[in-house]
Amino acid sequence: MSIRIIGTGSYVPEKTVTNDDLSQMVDTNDEWITQRVGVKERRVSVSETTADLAVKAAQRAIEAAGISAEELDLIVTATVTGDSLCPSTAALVQAAIGAKCPAFDISSACSGFLFALDTAAAFIARGGIRHALVIGAERLSRVLDWTDRSTCVIFGDGAGAAVVAPGDNYLVSHLFTQGNDDVLSIPAGKGNSPFYEREEPVYKVVMKGQETFRFAVRRITDDIRLVSDMAGITPDQLKYIVPHQANSRIIDLAARKLGIPMERFVLNIERYGNTSSASVAISLDELVRSGALQPGDLIALCAFGGGLSSAACIIRW
Ligand code: UT7
Repeated sequence: MSIRIIGTGSYVPEKTVTNDDLSQMVDTNDEWITQRVGVKERRVSVSETTADLAVKAAQRAIEAAGISAEELDLIVTATVTGDSLCPSTAALVQAAIGAKCPAFDISSACSGFLFALDTAAAFIARGGIRHALVIGAERLSRVLDWTDRSTCVIFGDGAGAAVVAPGDNYLVSHLFTQGNDDVLSIPAGKGNSPFYEREEPVYKVVMKGQETFRFAVRRITDDIRLVSDMAGITPDQLKYIVPHQANSRIIDLAARKLGIPMERFVLNIERYGNTSSASVAISLDELVRSGALQPGDLIALCAFGGGLSSAACIIRW
């Protein structure tokens, strides 16, 4: 199709919160979290904003791409934890890195980075864009209910980014939305109007874990089969699959249904937990920097989450 990835970067905040740390806060333990979710520790931002995390990931991606911020023609940031409703996180990144191009956010929860990547691909296909910066950045610790053991143990903060340019490495993509505010949401509160009874806005993740789990396994399996069909390959031709890091059991089940060995799935959930839209971007950056990818390798990226939404694409490296 229309793009190639020319540089990736990621950043996670310094503070590490272990499962044992969480067991001091809620009724949980390392064994449950490790076995049921696969997380051992996550990073939590103490003072850095979502935009701060995004800027650091973006600067690393720009450096890896070997371009300057002035050479960017577009910035698209995926986030559900922007620091403000306005300005967008992308606009704050634009100012901080010294770019001059249009910048905007999109919201598609944990699938957000792949929706943003596809958006950049569409802009590049339209023409006139030499380099686009695509970011997934989240400070989920700000919207978690830290008294709810079924959600607070899962998530973490972080950011990942990629610089894309015109090319033909992005072979196929698929975006999926099944509108629903019942399974997984971050309600924004009733707001501030004087024309009805006010209430304090309370932003917090509300999730029906098992329904989300079933949706996730089904979407990874269906989406990987679908994009493989679209690319004219079979899933076992994929050298790596970079999945959203929500639960290692989700990935394990999807791997078995697809008949793909678990070793081909990139996993870092143990270290970062679920960083929503940042998760695929961080995982891709770690894969790239590990040196494991060779030119010509076929890889798939896939994600699922609030919306409900899911997305997948196949890239020839
Ligand atoms: O990125 C967005 C997408 N999100 C996801 O993909 C998340 C998908 N869902 C999941 O990953 C899993 O459903 C969870 C990790 C959220 C929960 O795991 P589960 O195996 O579905 O557990 P459950 O909700 O069925 O709960 C089993 C038990 C319950 O206790 P009882 O009722 O059996 O006595 C829970 O109260 O585990 C209990 N429990 C915990 N125990 C210790 C729930 N959370 C915890 C905890 N520590 N943190």
